[in-house]
Amino acid sequence: MTQPAVNNTLSVAEAISSRRSVRKYTNDQVSQADLNTILELTGKAPSAWNIQPWRFVAVRNQEVKNKLQAAAYGQGQVGSAPVVIAVYSNTAEALDTLADVIHPGVPAEQRQGAIDGILGAFAQRSPEEKEAWGLAQTNIALGYLSLAARSLGYDTSLMLGFDPAQVKEILGLPTHVQLAGLVALGVAAEEGYPHHRHAVEKITQFVD
Ligand SMILES: Cc1cc2nc3c(=O)[nH]c(=O)nc-3n(C[C@H](O)[C@H](O)[C@H](O)COP(=O)(O)O)c2cc1C
Repeated sequence: MTQPAVNNTLSVAEAISSRRSVRKYTNDQVSQADLNTILELTGKAPSAWNIQPWRFVAVRNQEVKNKLQAAAYGQGQVGSAPVVIAVYSNTAEALDTLADVIHPGVPAEQRQGAIDGILGAFAQRSPEEKEAWGLAQTNIALGYLSLAARSLGYDTSLMLGFDPAQVKEILGLPTHVQLAGLVALGVAAEEGYPHHRHAVEKITQFVD
């Protein structure tokens, strides 16, 4: 795996605790090595049957970022962050390329059976249901991305405030894909808001 360019990576707990939505960025760049590491860590997210339906477009091009900013109702972090990543799922493509996700440890004579088993589980689902399923998996990767970035010392802003049809058109994505979010990525020029979260007791029932 690509080694992080920064040596002091945060623990998972430190990354979770220090992550904030950051909407102002310095002019510091995200190195290509760090970007690769962040995406490689993001791709370690789990998914049902290991189908990994998530796909990414990492945008540094200022002209394209400006267009994305307009599609995101003018949100400033889209135009000003050094990198904006579109996180989306393409379940149709993932199901067409299942041979890529069957573990190499599965013996050759069992591989087609494994693929057929997965395709059978989707046989009764409409294209829209398949894409909604893929989006649920991709949201796991979205969370991983924000924490992977933080662990390397970067900050992010996760966004759903955009017109998905416009974003797909700008990025040349097929209309059937589902966008999990736009993610602004860079070095924070502000602290963000302190966490304000429910207590565990409000969101959890313990059955002992
Ligand atoms: C899926 C998702 C979509 C969001 N969309 C936007 C957005 O469009 N614009 C924005 O400024 N913040 C957006 N946020 C950020 C949330 O407002 C923020 O995560 C929440 O208020 C908690 O603050 P924190 O991230 O600093 O802990 C989004 C967050 C998530 C997870």
